[in-house]
Amino acid sequence: MKSPKLWLSWLAVNVCRLLLALTFIFSGTVKLIDPRGFEYKLEDYATEFSLRSLMPLFVPLALAVALSMLEFVLGVNLLFGIRRRLSSWLVLLFMLVVTPLTLYIAVTGTIVDCGCFGDAVVLTNWQTFWKNVVLLAAAIVVVWRGRLMTRFISEHNQWTIASYAVVFSLALALYSVWRLPVIDFRPYHVGVDLAQAIEDEWNSPELEPVYADFSIDTEDRGDITLEWLSQAGYKFLLIAPQLEEADDSAIDDLNNIYDYSQQHGYPFLCLTASSEEAQELWTSMTGAEYPFAFTDAVCLKTVIRSNPGLLLLSDGVIVRKWPNSHLPHYEEDVTPPLEELNVAQPAERSYTKGGLRLLLWFCLPFLVIAALDRMWVALKMCISNYKSNNKTKRTMRKKIVAGNWKMNLSLQEGMALASELKSVLAQDKPNCDVVICTPFVHLAAVAPVVEGTVIGLGAQNCADKPKGAYTGEVSASQVKSTGAQYVILGHSERRAYYHETAAILKEKVLLALDNGLKVIFCIGEVLEEREAGKQNEVVEGQLKDSLFDLTAEQLSHVVLAYEPVWAIGTGKTATAEQAEDMHAFIRKTMAEHFGAEAAENLSILYGGSCKPSNAKEIFSKPDVDGGLIGGASLVCADFKGIIDAWK
Ligand code: PGA
Repeated sequence: MKSPKLWLSWLAVNVCRLLLALTFIFSGTVKLIDPRGFEYKLEDYATEFSLRSLMPLFVPLALAVALSMLEFVLGVNLLFGIRRRLSSWLVLLFMLVVTPLTLYIAVTGTIVDCGCFGDAVVLTNWQTFWKNVVLLAAAIVVVWRGRLMTRFISEHNQWTIASYAVVFSLALALYSVWRLPVIDFRPYHVGVDLAQAIEDEWNSPELEPVYADFSIDTEDRGDITLEWLSQAGYKFLLIAPQLEEADDSAIDDLNNIYDYSQQHGYPFLCLTASSEEAQELWTSMTGAEYPFAFTDAVCLKTVIRSNPGLLLLSDGVIVRKWPNSHLPHYEEDVTPPLEELNVAQPAERSYTKGGLRLLLWFCLPFLVIAALDRMWVALKMCISNYKSNNKTKRTMRKKIVAGNWKMNLSLQEGMALASELKSVLAQDKPNCDVVICTPFVHLAAVAPVVEGTVIGLGAQNCADKPKGAYTGEVSASQVKSTGAQYVILGHSERRAYYHETAAILKEKVLLALDNGLKVIFCIGEVLEEREAGKQNEVVEGQLKDSLFDLTAEQLSHVVLAYEPVWAIGTGKTATAEQAEDMHAFIRKTMAEHFGAEAAENLSILYGGSCKPSNAKEIFSKPDVDGGLIGGASLVCADFKGIIDAWK
């Protein structure tokens, strides 16, 4: 972290992100555990806003599943730092919708419990609203500096966690709808002594009324709640809030259970909120023989999230709950009495088993994926370290900083600059090869100055003929005779102003190599070519036309200099990435033609407005082996600054 301010921002963003993530995951999970409960809540909202009649029947449940999944997945995304910008914007949007909604409910009081945390944690409407204000503020902070969110999974593998979150949440929702909630947060959970709880509540008016709506009303004998519940032994309670909407696909199983209960003398009662006509219709449709009693519909939906659903009570205690999709197969004359069946033993409250199962399916895969990801990242780092170690060991290629004085400096100035550079580098040894390419007339005088030092000497051109009547030209052998070791060929200025073609350059290269000179061969595209995206094509053509006839041995005396023409002397540098892209392309091209080893050993310099301020970044790229420096090589301090970029 750079500054205390940045550190504080990081802290704020990550605290808010964790708060949102954990709240969203918790609230999503409790709804996914009980999508039916959230469905009923959404129906309340739809009724409040007069939308109920406009909605097809399946919509509230589908919406309940979709919204709970969205909440859960967003929570997981925030927790791991997956698609940070998108996720934080979606969370903000979510809060912008629900916060005003909860304010409306708090002010009007039309809906008693907002349903944010299902039945797991029930907040008052005003508590819910203020909770949402806090979450909204946290969402704004997270959106503000989303990029400061620390990732707990690599970008490469984040899709695994995101996909698992989607699959897990969908599976949990479907399982809970098809079977029953994996954890039962309601007061009618397995293990509760219903008879005792109702009696306690009746006798102690100071207790919060939880079972106030539960009653067993019969037509002939009125309210028989306690009387019926308190009977000793086993009894079956079939719950069907609305017989008109009840699922009749397991009617045979139900009728069998009823016959079985009669054989063994277990009381059996169907509790419903439907009218007598509906009861008669159900009886005639299904052949049901069991008696009916009346209870409030909302209360029945709370007892079991299935219509119909079956409860088994032992004395007053609920010992089993079965959804319609998963009824037991109890048959008259076949199934032994409940006392002999394991299933009829009072079960523990489903918190522990359900909770453990959930935790296992929930946390374990996330942890395993995250751990595998961390291992993958570590392995990748080891491999890349190993590769780069190996590379440096294998690679013979030299790091070079070469100065190109062009047509600058008098002989005296040139000698002075060479002397200055010599003494500076004698005091502070460079970490790379250093070359100065002077005008022809300087060569013979500068050669003795730099002889025996780390500084190499080069010319900026040579003739394309070995010798003879070519007035004004200087041959490669003449260059060599001055004591120089290098020659720059193919510089874009010579290509442009002196019309040096690929064929001429090919001759020059061969002559230079034949005379024992090392060639610094320049290549590079002009601005229009880069703008047309043709830079690779152009550079490949330049290499092919002038160098591809060389042998690998000859190539080992060549250094390439990639100089984008638009960056030469203009102050416009290619970015380090642009340089690296091109250098990697050049190396690949050379590898294809000369083989991997020759390409690996080939030094490729970058040239074009290279300065002490940008050299380090450019040279840090793996395929950049140094620079060919124009303007900045004329000032000793600047040139030294660039040489020092290798330190
Ligand atoms: P520059 O020139 O560093 O002044 O841009 C580089 C070159 O032409 O070699």
